[in-house]
Amino acid sequence: MDAVAFRKTQRDDLPAILEIERLSFPSPWNLHTFISVLYDKDSYNLTVWCDGEIRGYCFTLVMRKMVHLLNLAVHPDCRRRGIARSLLEEIISFARSSNKSYVFLEVRKSNRIAQSLYASMGFSHAFTWRRYYTDTGEDAYIMVKKIERIGE
Ligand SMILES: CC(C)(COP(=O)(O)OP(=O)(O)OC[C@H]1O[C@@H](n2cnc3c(N)ncnc32)[C@H](O)[C@@H]1OP(=O)(O)O)[C@@H](O)C(=O)NCCC(=O)NCCS
Repeated sequence: MDAVAFRKTQRDDLPAILEIERLSFPSPWNLHTFISVLYDKDSYNLTVWCDGEIRGYCFTLVMRKMVHLLNLAVHPDCRRRGIARSLLEEIISFARSSNKSYVFLEVRKSNRIAQSLYASMGFSHAFTWRRYYTDTGEDAYIMVKKIERIGE
């Protein structure tokens, strides 16, 4: 595998992102949802490129003090190679350089793989939103990472 590169997400990336999304989630985002986040002036979104192909992505919304991680996935053929960890490191470094205090996200209670990824990156389970996911009625775990300033 060549070096992995992270680039700001562009409109042209969306067909490949939609395909990864479809392979990754039981209730995938549709094109309209991706477009509305992509063109939100407060979003910060990264596409992962590897061997000339899009292999993952992350969509976030930047709030006053926090970065809200909305969506993250890696192509099934490229998992367990550290791509999501590197993507999250990019988001955490962006949050630090933009002076944000927290990164937070929702994750399905059943999604143990994603929970262990986030826990390994210093996120902790802050609280649970009961029946948050409308498709299955599943609970969401809210996981939060405090952004330490360098030298703190
Ligand atoms: C969750 C997901 C993004 C992880 O992507 P990835 O690139 O494979 O993850 P990484 O290789 O960076 O793994 C980092 C850590 O996550 C955890 N992890 C990742 N895959 C795992 C697995 N299959 N089983 C257990 N832990 C796993 C491990 O702690 C791993 O560290 P390690 O490899 O040193 O043990 C990917 O599985 C995915 O796209 N899943 C479907 C979409 C999804 O659930 N997104 C998150 C929504 S909240």
